[in-house]
Amino acid sequence: MYVLGIETSCDETSCAVVKGRRVVSNVVVSSLKYHKKYGGIVPEIATRNHLKFIDKVLMLALKKAGISLKEISAIGVVYKPGLIGSLIVGVNFAKALCLSLGKPLIGINHLHSHIYAPFLNNKKRIRFPFLGLVVSGGHTELFLVKDFDNIKSVGKTRDDACGEVFDKVARAFGLGYPGGIYIDRIFREEFKQSFSFSCARIGLDFSFSGVKTAVIYKKMELEKKNKLDEETKISILSSFQESVVNTIVSTTILAAKELALNRLVCGGGVIANRRLRYLLKEETKKENIELLLSPKEYCGDNGACCAGLAFYLHKKGINSGINLSPEAN
Ligand code: KG4
Ligand code: ZN
Repeated sequence: MYVLGIETSCDETSCAVVKGRRVVSNVVVSSLKYHKKYGGIVPEIATRNHLKFIDKVLMLALKKAGISLKEISAIGVVYKPGLIGSLIVGVNFAKALCLSLGKPLIGINHLHSHIYAPFLNNKKRIRFPFLGLVVSGGHTELFLVKDFDNIKSVGKTRDDACGEVFDKVARAFGLGYPGGIYIDRIFREEFKQSFSFSCARIGLDFSFSGVKTAVIYKKMELEKKNKLDEETKISILSSFQESVVNTIVSTTILAAKELALNRLVCGGGVIANRRLRYLLKEETKKENIELLLSPKEYCGDNGACCAGLAFYLHKKGINSGINLSPEAN
């Protein structure tokens, strides 16, 4: 049995086919290059590109899977959260397919699909309950996952998302967009405490806008004094990254303890960060928490996570129906 997944919540247009946990095809086309000069995603540009590419992406996903549309048993589509114009394209495309093929439609929460990533292409038993951690460009959130249709948020950012802050800081330093990967590459462990930056934490909630402002002010201050050489820039960015990833890891461990959970499942674009992956591994080992990290290839937005979760929910008999509406938040 094959399930199709359609993801258009941000700038990636993606369709994927799964058979159980196995990814049979996963085609991702990004409109990123059209947004770069603006230093962020322009919703209108994202929407127009989804419209332009979605049918081609579907055809390619089917071709790569070596199947026809008729062989699809159900269709999963990301319907929230995301950019509303982008979601409308994906959801309506999925609805049209479901209506014409007479197949069930399964609405997928984008954040939940990120947490499904570690279960793709393996036979690891999915054991509940677990703590879910999503760190991406738009979200930083902790979840109590009792099952994939029983997920409760237990903590999230009160202002900027982690990836968003990486991107804004990188931009202030003239690095490319999206900047998370550049900061990850620049990071040098010997400079991780050269500057003392700290992130606020409120219970199990995060806050990253303060550290962003502090880093940008520090850069401006040193620039004025003509003290901002290359090594100082690397030191500032390394200390910034250390402070952010430390806060994520310590808050996650705290959440696991408070909720008495000994399993942690992580996904989202920022989970590709090398230092974050390293610290998650180190700290969970100390606390005897089982860790499942999204493979790097499935950290960013993609249809495979959506299709995989849709397959799981379809097996549980879930059908969202044709009246499914996209929701920005
Ligand atoms: O999950 P994602 O692809 O899209 C959203 O759902 O938001 O995440 C994109 C975010 C961007 O902010 C990007 O800078 C960040 O993930 N990112 C990273 C790394 N790779 C991507 N941040 C830190 N280190 C990385 N290696
Ligand atoms: Zn995402």
